[in-house]
Amino acid sequence: MSATVRILPSGHEFDLEPHDTVLEGGLRAGYPVAYGCSNGNCGFCAARLIDGEIEETLHSDFVFSDAEKAENSFLMCANRALGDIVVEAPEALGADDIPLQSLKARVKAVEALSDDVLNVHLRTPRTSRLRFLAGQYVRLGGAGGPTGEYTVASCPCDDRNLHIHIGRRDGAAFSEHAFNGLKANDTVPVEGPWGSFVLAEDRVRPLLFLAFGTGFAPVRSLVEHAMSLDEAKDETTPMLVYWMTEGGGDPYLHNLCRSWQDAFEDIRYTPLACPGGEDDGRRRAWLDLMQRVREEVGDLAGFDVYLSAPEGLHGESREFFNDAGVAGNALHLEPLRQG
Ligand code: FES
Repeated sequence: MSATVRILPSGHEFDLEPHDTVLEGGLRAGYPVAYGCSNGNCGFCAARLIDGEIEETLHSDFVFSDAEKAENSFLMCANRALGDIVVEAPEALGADDIPLQSLKARVKAVEALSDDVLNVHLRTPRTSRLRFLAGQYVRLGGAGGPTGEYTVASCPCDDRNLHIHIGRRDGAAFSEHAFNGLKANDTVPVEGPWGSFVLAEDRVRPLLFLAFGTGFAPVRSLVEHAMSLDEAKDETTPMLVYWMTEGGGDPYLHNLCRSWQDAFEDIRYTPLACPGGEDDGRRRAWLDLMQRVREEVGDLAGFDVYLSAPEGLHGESREFFNDAGVAGNALHLEPLRQG
């Protein structure tokens, strides 16, 4: 039997599968509920049961005060619902509410997405997951070894999995390490998250994404996060994804984007090739892309725009979208995080 959880004060709702803890269901739905260890130790996932019944699934030594017990406090990571419940629980309202964390992740796989892009699949420890918002970035490495900053390309709703897209880049220490020696079962220090390239909490507008090269990483995370939120709310958000890459051929996750488009009629994906080479060629191709977006979409004023591209393209992009009527707080710009 599945159960529905309603969170106060946000009013967010999600379904739980029978084996889900309240925390697991909230995270899978994409809601930024507070948590830490996922293991009944830290108390960060404490919530109040307002209505309904719950059952402990995990013994915990965490001790609530008498006042907290009297308010029906419980740990979301250590309880499941016995039917529909209403709880009061803290949720992050924005990037500032997410604490800085340090943990050690294990490399599950290093997969070549193309000749010049790797996907590094990391798994965080069961007792020390990374709490982040879709679109944020982390620092990988350290402890005297190579380091680099990269956006998490996966959704926070994807359990303990972190996917990182790493482009080949001479002189970037972590990129060279990833292409030359990183392998399954290695341990990678992870610190973060940082960044405010995240979905607006109160978003109601359709989403327009423009990505250049590995700038697709935050776009993937945001699209998958928006999908999981839509599923929890039984809604659909129109999403347009334009992805420009250099080097010829399809973008490195072309089939994933095609599968989004095939599965959801409100998602439209357009791959574009950039001739590459000199900076001016890249700039002209990007201006052509924005012009094409305006011709295909028409009125852009009603969109939230997320643009992830080299910083050198930001100035003209900002001018273009301002001229097209996109409000300042609806335009989100992110540089490439390449190490
Ligand atoms: S997340 Fe640490 S006790 Fe629940």
